[in-house]
Amino acid sequence: MEALANLNGESLPLAKVRISALDRGFLFGDAVYEVLRVYEGRPWLEEEHFRRLERSLSAIRIAGVDLGRLRRRVYETIAAGPFRDAVVYIQITRGSALRSHPFPANAVPLEFLFVQEFLDSYEQARRSGARVITQPDIRWGRCDIKSTNLLPNVLAMQAAKEAGSLEALLCSPDGTLTEGTHTSFFGVLEGAVLTAPNSNAILPGITRGLILRLAAQASIPVREQVLKRSDLQQVSELFLTGTTSEVLPVVYVDDEPIGEGRPGPVTCRLQEAYQQAVRAFVAGSF
Ligand code: PDD
Repeated sequence: MEALANLNGESLPLAKVRISALDRGFLFGDAVYEVLRVYEGRPWLEEEHFRRLERSLSAIRIAGVDLGRLRRRVYETIAAGPFRDAVVYIQITRGSALRSHPFPANAVPLEFLFVQEFLDSYEQARRSGARVITQPDIRWGRCDIKSTNLLPNVLAMQAAKEAGSLEALLCSPDGTLTEGTHTSFFGVLEGAVLTAPNSNAILPGITRGLILRLAAQASIPVREQVLKRSDLQQVSELFLTGTTSEVLPVVYVDDEPIGEGRPGPVTCRLQEAYQQAVRAFVAGSF
């Protein structure tokens, strides 16, 4: 199915979108974005994604974006498909102006979104578990902002791909494992679920937030604390979460098995709880 876009209110096929070479998203990465999953034609965890978009916009001081109007454009674009299993990508840039570093006086933010069919590349790994590698976390000091400056993530992910792995875990100089290149990261230690607390060092993952709520509902203890590279010998399970990956067991890190080298019971319970939440959402009761 053809991907459909909306550029500043105009609907068109994604392949037909043209954006100025002076757009600051292109020239400076002066932009923020969101990715939402659509199940059965409805955007999942929409409130949470739009709240995070609002926070990212405010953090980089882009003003004047009508988020209600943007949401209506998302619904219209999904309905124009019609899309059932899809992803929505939204990007807001500071707009176009002659190239100069400070904010331009009169630039109007560019509001771009597209909807495309979801092709699930994680299906097999969700069942059998994924191999990942570690890579140095060379990102900036505001990883909590969902900015389009993703070069360190791209380079780390390419290294993972070349190593035959599905994701790279980013590791700070002190050995702290922050998150994946496009996923949040969890460990299981003595039956408790561990994940790094929200800070400037990680993106506040929407799926991460849901998993913390689902773990609490399932009476699985949760501890928001960082895991270090050296803790990996002690953890019994690891898993990743994200909008497109959902809940993804990790069974090998840098060729070393985690626990028994297969998806563990806590991960599987949370995967099932996630699927149940999606089923409830599709049935209109989430
Ligand atoms: N990535 N951490 C990073 C660095 C991310 O880019 C993402 C999402 C996540 C998971 O967040 P969420 O649960 O809200 O999707 C964590 C999106 C999907 C992407 O860049 O494609």
